[in-house]
Amino acid sequence: MKPTRVGVLVSGNGSNLEAILKACRSKKIDAEVVLVVSNNPKAYALERAKKFKVPTFVVNAKENFETEVLSLLKQYNVELVCLAGFMRLLSKHFIQAYPNRILNIHPALLPAFPGLKAQKQAYDYGAKITGVTVHFVDEGCDTGPIILQKAIPILDSDTEETLFKRIQKVEHQIYPQAIQLFATGCLKINGRRVLRE
Ligand code: GRF
Repeated sequence: MKPTRVGVLVSGNGSNLEAILKACRSKKIDAEVVLVVSNNPKAYALERAKKFKVPTFVVNAKENFETEVLSLLKQYNVELVCLAGFMRLLSKHFIQAYPNRILNIHPALLPAFPGLKAQKQAYDYGAKITGVTVHFVDEGCDTGPIILQKAIPILDSDTEETLFKRIQKVEHQIYPQAIQLFATGCLKINGRRVLRE
């Protein structure tokens, strides 16, 4: 089977990008990262991509941002777009260019704590359980159909930092898993529900 061609959009650290790159390179998943696009020229994710010799692009145009990114994704024949710490909302036009082909990872159990710094939101709220969600991207903020979730307890001894470390460890496991489910054609979307075939 030909590996699914993945384009990853990033803005920051890129630890999820690296987990995806490792899973692809070690052939744990039937996917290949064919380009990485950052809207932030200083993103450490770009260094990680270079280490894996994956083409990188910085697009930070105020206007035409999406047109430029879409044209790169097309140029590289991307089949699946993965947002990995990408800090910009995408328009309806962009999402419709890749219907049910854009994934995102979120550091909480959606629909709880959508938006920024979800791990801090859950910690500050005093929740006893939080987690990680991988979902399809729709036009809302963290509202798309859910592919995988994993719960993580918030311990009395946790600080926001120790909690986030555990969250990220789980992220690095379930993002590649979700990509593999997509790559092997195992996902069927039925309304809000994502079923495994
Ligand atoms: C992750 O916690 C992810 O859930 C959220 O942004 C963070 C990105 O981390 N969407 P990294 O850049 O992959 O290290």
